[in-house]
Amino acid sequence: MCGIVGIIGNKNAGYKILQGLKDLEYRGYDSAGIATISKDELQIKKSVGKIAALEDAFLNAPLKGSIGIGHTRWATHGVPSINNAHPHVDCTGKIAVVHNGIIENFVSIRKLLIKEGHRFISESDTEVLAHLIEKFYNGNIERAVKEALMLVKGTYAIAVVCAQEPDKIIIARQQSPLVIGIIKKGSYIVASDVTPISKLTDRVIYISDNEMAILSSSGHHIVKISDLSRDVVKKIERIDWELEDSEKGRYKHFMLKEINEQPKIVKDIIFSHVIKKKGSVKFGGLESIWKNDEKDISGSTGIDYLLNASRIIIFGCGTSWHSGLIGEYAIENLAGLPVEVEYASEARYRNLCITKNDMVFAISQSGETADTLMAIKEAKRKGAVTFGLVNVVGSTIAREVSGGIYLHAGPEIGVASTKAFTGQVIILALMAFLLGRHKGAISLDKGKRIIKALEKIPEQMQNIINNDGPVKRLANRLAKYSNFLYLGRTYNFPVALEGALKLKEISYIHAEGYPAAEMKHGPIALIDKNMPVVVVATDTEDEIYEKIISNIREIKSRKGIVVAVASEGNKSIKDIVDETIYIPRTEDFLMPVLSVIPLQLLAYHIAVKKGCNVDKPRNLAKSVTVE
Ligand code: AGP
Repeated sequence: MCGIVGIIGNKNAGYKILQGLKDLEYRGYDSAGIATISKDELQIKKSVGKIAALEDAFLNAPLKGSIGIGHTRWATHGVPSINNAHPHVDCTGKIAVVHNGIIENFVSIRKLLIKEGHRFISESDTEVLAHLIEKFYNGNIERAVKEALMLVKGTYAIAVVCAQEPDKIIIARQQSPLVIGIIKKGSYIVASDVTPISKLTDRVIYISDNEMAILSSSGHHIVKISDLSRDVVKKIERIDWELEDSEKGRYKHFMLKEINEQPKIVKDIIFSHVIKKKGSVKFGGLESIWKNDEKDISGSTGIDYLLNASRIIIFGCGTSWHSGLIGEYAIENLAGLPVEVEYASEARYRNLCITKNDMVFAISQSGETADTLMAIKEAKRKGAVTFGLVNVVGSTIAREVSGGIYLHAGPEIGVASTKAFTGQVIILALMAFLLGRHKGAISLDKGKRIIKALEKIPEQMQNIINNDGPVKRLANRLAKYSNFLYLGRTYNFPVALEGALKLKEISYIHAEGYPAAEMKHGPIALIDKNMPVVVVATDTEDEIYEKIISNIREIKSRKGIVVAVASEGNKSIKDIVDETIYIPRTEDFLMPVLSVIPLQLLAYHIAVKKGCNVDKPRNLAKSVTVE
């Protein structure tokens, strides 16, 4: 979604901002703009569509100045257009604002400002901020920003520059992320996530809700928006991402790079958590719990909370919701604990009966998904203890929860999530394993056997990735179809959902995932010779496997095209399906990290064959920071 970059203290500020905006392209956007201050005047350039257009305009006539702000806009209020693109300016042309989030009461503020004589040129909610700041400006920009923010309702991360105070960037945040990167004293980059920052510095400060920062050549100063006299002391933290993590390297697309990174990420997760001798695992992030910013001194660990909760409730959206479903099956099967998985967007508005005895586990790659964040807040309000499983270190969700686990999968740039999914699944599987050990449902011997299986997983994943040829050929054959069905049972049902989501996101082919047995309750009506059905049939349990085979026969009797993802050694399945992709076997609860890979690759190759924009599919945003 929208992205912000601001620079102060660099004589090529405009160019650096342009580079930063390019690093934020992955978030999804439809227009972009930059404002710098040169000779006490604002200089502004905007473009609709790709940043390349802004770059062309920039190369023809660079924006001068050592301070500026920039923005990539993902339209919410008004179509993508030059007028609606940020930065927005006030009537005097002296104040420029970029904004992520939504000003909910902009209509009434706009009416009032028009009555007072302000002239609006856009349909954007953000423009009211520029005019409100103008209204309150009397020589001190931070005070004017504060006065303006006191009147708005909604969510925001903003960056403001004022030509009359050409040595200051003001930033402020309410429920939309903002990070300051410290290049050196008096030289800063601010951004809505660390991706553009990591190229210039690894020292960052995460801004929290109700905080404002004043960045100038003499240093930075952080205060409460509601009380500018209240200084806030913030920790300078280190980003643990390397520069090359956010670059494509030898890969054609980020998605392909990220698919290829999966064995290493899963290996790192497994080896940093398993304790071989004990036939178990450990999670440092669940050892201490924080409640209302205070360490829980009862001595209870996160694992105690999980074991004693009346229910574990998992929240997530999209791919993170799918991994939650796998977590549910694993925790129920291995530890016998009650689990429910909820779409965060629904949980928030349903009267979900959460009590203080429930334990909420929120899953989010970005750690910024507004629906998930709001569901966490609602659960906290109802007294539940909340944990997070998050990739982006220092993200809003990571800071909102009482405890949790980081994936440490590095930046995921491709909009279609891949490595975060397998990372989430393996952590949830390890958690289920640990809970099973604590409950005594998994013996030491069995624990050691599971660890042996875990140790083989990275190599098995690598073998699937290396054997990409047959999947690519299959993609070439199937790319012409307009509808796909994905089926699976038990652990492979969420894998089917994930496979269908990947295909529709990046190739724009309509695809649905179903539990295989549900097919006869409706989707079977769709089956004909033009309907490829991907059946994830790696199950070995006779009863389930036989049922999947019956489903396959039902599809074939109706002339559907069946692609089976089957376990190596299953020769007989070949005779009844059109295409088979073989993958190695492991413990049932670990199968999803293997069975999802051919589905990721299938979606990828189909999208490439169709000439789609794999990393930045239309209409989608990487980090969905609005509800
Ligand atoms: C996955 O491919 C998607 N782009 C999307 O469904 C994503 O998983 C969802 O928006 C949740 O994001 P999060 O994990 O960052 O919270």
